[in-house]
Amino acid sequence: MTQAPTLRRFPITVHHRQRGRTILLEVPEGEYILRSFEAQGEALPFSCRNGCCTACAVRVLSGTIDQRESLGISKELRAKGYGLLCVARALGPLEVETTDEDEVYELQFGRHFGRGKVRTGLPLDDE
Ligand code: FES
Repeated sequence: MTQAPTLRRFPITVHHRQRGRTILLEVPEGEYILRSFEAQGEALPFSCRNGCCTACAVRVLSGTIDQRESLGISKELRAKGYGLLCVARALGPLEVETTDEDEVYELQFGRHFGRGKVRTGLPLDDE
């Protein structure tokens, strides 16, 4: 009789900047980091849980994540070290820090709003 292989567990450090806390937990290989932290009693920022809204965005300080399901973050920002914890799996020991509210959103879309307010032609536009 063969035994099922035991999953590896990786140490994950999250610097939760908004709360002024550093949290270190072990997350089993293949598990979403956000969900594993919640299951261990540590809530982190989130909204959609589907890799779309960027509420769970972090900056990776060391280590690598598999975030192939991240739809809400551009390839360029992923290359700069941003990740979405709701759809991120650690590939080894990892250290990240939470981002400021809307930081990733502004980095991705801010240039599109640089020309001022979008005009709709409705009377409220001129108030
Ligand atoms: S919670 Fe929305 S992208 Fe992660």
